[in-house]
Amino acid sequence: MSFLTMKTSCMFSRMYPLLISSALAVMVYLIITLPSRSQPGKHKPHSQLYPFNTSSQSITPVYGTRHFMVGAYKEYRVTGRSVRIISIFRRDSVEPLYCVFYCGADWAKTGMEAEVQVHSDHFGFPFGTTDVLCPHPPGCHPTHVTLSKQADAQYAQNHTFLRIQNLLKRDEEETFPLNFTVCVSNLFGDYNNVLQFAQTLEMYKLLNVQRVVVYKTSCGPDLERLLRSYTDDGFLEVVPWRIDKHMTPSSGWQPTEHGGDIHYYGQLTTLNDCVYRYMYQSRYVLLNDIDEIITPYQHETLTQLMEDLQRQHPEAGVFLIENHIFPKSQFEPSGRFDRLSWRDIPGINIMQHIYREEPDYRIYHPSKMIIRPRTVEQTSVHSVLRNFGETINVPPQLCHIIHVRVPLQNGLSKEELHEDKRIWDYEKQLVPNVDKALERAGFLTTG
Ligand SMILES: *[C@@H]1O[C@H](CO)[C@@H](O)[C@H](O)[C@H]1NC(C)=O
Ligand SMILES: *[C@@H]1O[C@H](CO)[C@@H](O)[C@H](O)[C@H]1NC(C)=O
Repeated sequence: MSFLTMKTSCMFSRMYPLLISSALAVMVYLIITLPSRSQPGKHKPHSQLYPFNTSSQSITPVYGTRHFMVGAYKEYRVTGRSVRIISIFRRDSVEPLYCVFYCGADWAKTGMEAEVQVHSDHFGFPFGTTDVLCPHPPGCHPTHVTLSKQADAQYAQNHTFLRIQNLLKRDEEETFPLNFTVCVSNLFGDYNNVLQFAQTLEMYKLLNVQRVVVYKTSCGPDLERLLRSYTDDGFLEVVPWRIDKHMTPSSGWQPTEHGGDIHYYGQLTTLNDCVYRYMYQSRYVLLNDIDEIITPYQHETLTQLMEDLQRQHPEAGVFLIENHIFPKSQFEPSGRFDRLSWRDIPGINIMQHIYREEPDYRIYHPSKMIIRPRTVEQTSVHSVLRNFGETINVPPQLCHIIHVRVPLQNGLSKEELHEDKRIWDYEKQLVPNVDKALERAGFLTTG
C-alpha cells in the first residue's frame, strides 16, 4: 500500500495522491469485507493457512463417535479450563475423549483429557446439550481444537477442527459493541409469519436492541425474503442450523409424545451457543422466542429499564421476565390497525391483539430471560442451570413479554382478559418503520 501511494504521489499533482490513495483504501476495504458480508456466518476455510480442516458448519461430527461439536469458546472464568466446546452428545455412549489443540503455528504435543458435562436439561431425549471443558495445554496459546478418542495428537490431525472464538476478551462491559442482543431459538418447518416478525423486529429496534440472532433449520419462502433483507442491513444474524441432517429433531419437549432424538430441534444447544457467541460482544442477551417481545412498561427502552434494575441489583446477572399470552383469536374492535397495506402480508398483525391472559400461577410461572452473558455458564429455556451471579424476578408491572399466539387458556371471553395496549404507545414510529421494512424486503409495491 504505502509503496504504491508513494509512487503515485510522485507522478501526480498535489490533490491526486490523496484521492487515489483513498480510492485504493476503499477498494482494499471492499475486497476484504465484501465476501464475508455477503455470506454472513460463513468463514472461508483456512486450509491454505493451517495444516488441517477447519469446520465451516455449525454442527460438526466428532470423528468415530455419535457426538457433535457446535462452537468452541475460550473460557476465562473456570480455573484450569481454557476452552469450552458447546456440543450435542449421545447420552448413552459417552466415552473418554481428548481435546487436541493447535496453538497458532504448532501442534500441542499431546491431547488433554476432556471433561464432559451433559446438561441436566435433556427431557429424556437420546441426545443432550453438553459442555466439553478442555484444560489448558502447557506452553500453548490455542487457536483451534477438536475432540478425539485418542490422546495422540498425530492421530487427530486429520479430524475437523473448530476455530476457537472469544480469543479477544473485553474486560469492561462498557466497551462491548452491543448493549442488547436477542437470541432466537429456532426457526423450523415452514414458519412464514412475516408480519409478526417484521413488527417484532421493529419493536426491538425501538427498545434499543441492536442485534437479533436466529438459528434457522428452515422457514417459509416469504419469511426467508424478510430474513435476507434484515441480514443485509446487519441487524440480523442467521446461523444455519441443519440439525435435521444429523438426527431426527423433535418438534416437542416430550420424547414419549413427540418422538425424535433431541428436544425442540436442539433449542437448548442453540441458546447456549448464542450466549457464548455474544459473551464479549453484548452487555445483555435476551433469550426468547421469535413471537415474544420483552417489553418494558414503565420505561421507554430496555436501556432505561436495565439501568434502573442494575442499579438496584448490582450483582444480578439473570433477570426473569414473565411471559404473558395475548390470544390471536381476540381482535380489538376499532380496526384502526387493520391497514390495507398489511392485509396481504402473511402472518399475524400483533397490533390488533391487545387482550392479555392472566397467567394461572398455580400451574406455571412462565418466564424468559435477560442475562448478562458473562455471568452464565449453562442455560435452559426458562431459567439458567449454572451461573455466577444473582437471579432477579422482574415484577410484571415493570416488564413482561408480549406473546401473541393461540390462546393458552381456552374459551376466555374479552371480559376475562386484561386490555393491554402497550404496543400502541410505539405506534407513531412502529407503523412507518414496519412499512419501510416490508418495502425494503419487496412486500409493498409503491405507487
Ligand atoms: C484419519 O486417518 C486414518 C489413518 O491414519 C484413517 O483410518 C481415518 O479414517 C482418517 N480419519 C479421517 C477423519 O479422515
Ligand atoms: C449502551 O448503553 C449506554 C448506556 O447504558 C450508552 O451510553 C451507550 O451509548 C449504548 N451503546 C450503544 C452502542 O448504543
